[in-house]
Amino acid sequence: MTSYMLTTAQISAVIIGLGFVLITHVVSQKESTHPPKVPSLLPWIGSAIRYVFAPTRFLALCCTQFGPVFKVLVGGRNIIVVGTAESIRSALFTDHRVLTAYVEHYNHFHVVCSDTSLYPLIHDTITYKLFPVFDRRLSKRAVDDLTGHCAETIFSRLKAFSEHEQVSLRRSLNEPLYVAVTAIFLGSKFSPDTYDDWVTFLDSVPKRLCRLPFWSVPSSRARGRLLQHVITCLQSANPDNDDDKLAGDFSKVLRENNISPEVASFVVLTVMLFLHTNMLDVVFWLFSWLMADPLAFSSLRDEIDRAVREEFGNIQTFIAEASPQRLDSPAFALLNSAILETTRLTTLQTGLRLAECDLELKDEEGTIPVRKGEYVLLFPRPAQRNEASYPDGHRFVIDRFVQDQYQGELTAAAGKPYFAFGAGRHLCKGRYLAMFGMKVLTILYLSLFDVTPAPLERRSSKWEPPQSSAHSIGTIRPTKDVFVKLRPRATL
Ligand code: HEM
Repeated sequence: MTSYMLTTAQISAVIIGLGFVLITHVVSQKESTHPPKVPSLLPWIGSAIRYVFAPTRFLALCCTQFGPVFKVLVGGRNIIVVGTAESIRSALFTDHRVLTAYVEHYNHFHVVCSDTSLYPLIHDTITYKLFPVFDRRLSKRAVDDLTGHCAETIFSRLKAFSEHEQVSLRRSLNEPLYVAVTAIFLGSKFSPDTYDDWVTFLDSVPKRLCRLPFWSVPSSRARGRLLQHVITCLQSANPDNDDDKLAGDFSKVLRENNISPEVASFVVLTVMLFLHTNMLDVVFWLFSWLMADPLAFSSLRDEIDRAVREEFGNIQTFIAEASPQRLDSPAFALLNSAILETTRLTTLQTGLRLAECDLELKDEEGTIPVRKGEYVLLFPRPAQRNEASYPDGHRFVIDRFVQDQYQGELTAAAGKPYFAFGAGRHLCKGRYLAMFGMKVLTILYLSLFDVTPAPLERRSSKWEPPQSSAHSIGTIRPTKDVFVKLRPRATL
């Protein structure tokens, strides 16, 4: 009897043990299948080669194969790519000490400065000394105070293009915007002649960010000249001068904290990256998609003509009085929608975070385990093109956001996934300035010129915008420029 009892106990123990092993196995299987891992034959290197040489294409392919949330090994780092609305929101609103953004900032420093020992100081200066200035100066209420000359500058730069038979779309949009917005940051000593250096430098950024073996004398020299110019602007900024408000604040803060001119120039060039990398590409795509859709083009121009007349009287008064607050008027609802729609379609990655401890992110599928030392890449592209949220999500639909009654708060799509300007602690600090700059440029460009893609004589639905480059990082970049004919409009 005793031996029979023992046998039963032993059998029970074995069964319980087996059950435990089975459950643990199932749980660990579950853990390891969500998020799915992108397979790779190369230990440590993983998918680094495919990622680094064509990040956009690689992420798109993985998304098709594994869904919008997956894990990929890139050069010894596990990166968890999150592409659903819930997982992105969960990452953006996780405590910033648990998922830290400093790796993202360090990546940017790498683009402007090769001396890694300076990164902690640059990081500290940007985050704790300059960001408070941004919060104060670029808030929705305060930004009006900085933008007084913006429309005038864009107008005078645009006029120069009317003298040419055929112009580069990229240059004719980007140069006026670059000059007007950089002047707000660098003040009265800022030279518009730096645009070519900026483009040479900016074109090298994707390669620099991906740490590709990169050596280009022209782009490094251009960067050197830009850094030197930043030093000159900061040193001569006069806070009493109306054009030097922001530059004056910057130089005061940097001086008070004993930041050397060299470090100050790295700091400000990093800020210029924040400033321009997305904005300049967004306006390029907006105009490309408008030219490919003649109906959208003419309805936007009709709205602009009407709104300028009704809100300002004429274009000259618009140039003198345009302000962020006045352009938030519902009279410009279609323009606002067109820009938001462009940002929806052009957003790729919006940030990289490092897990400082184990954590779990929420997802429609359940939870996503993230281990200490793993990276989380915010990748809103699939969510922002999701057919369930945005019918016809791959198409540019100019009035998609009109019905959302824009109040100037960038609530682009209540309840729908929209992360073009980030969210949470690292929400874009320049979003109101960016929206204003892009609106002024579009209003003036369409008011001044009748624009057609060259060599086509008429805007045509047959005209195709360029493809997006596989090397894009934050916002899609075009593979090539577009040439356009600008005819001054008879009405002006
Ligand atoms: C179309 C134009 C723009 C887009 C799409 C855009 C997008 C973004 C996004 C997605 C982030 C969040 C990054 C993250 O979560 O790690 C961000 C952050 C930031 N943006 Fe923008 N941005 C634009 C224009 C500007 C402009 C004009 C400025 C001028 C100051 C600016 C300044 C910043 C700064 C300083 C941050 C960092 C905030 C932080 O880390 O706390 N951006 N931007």
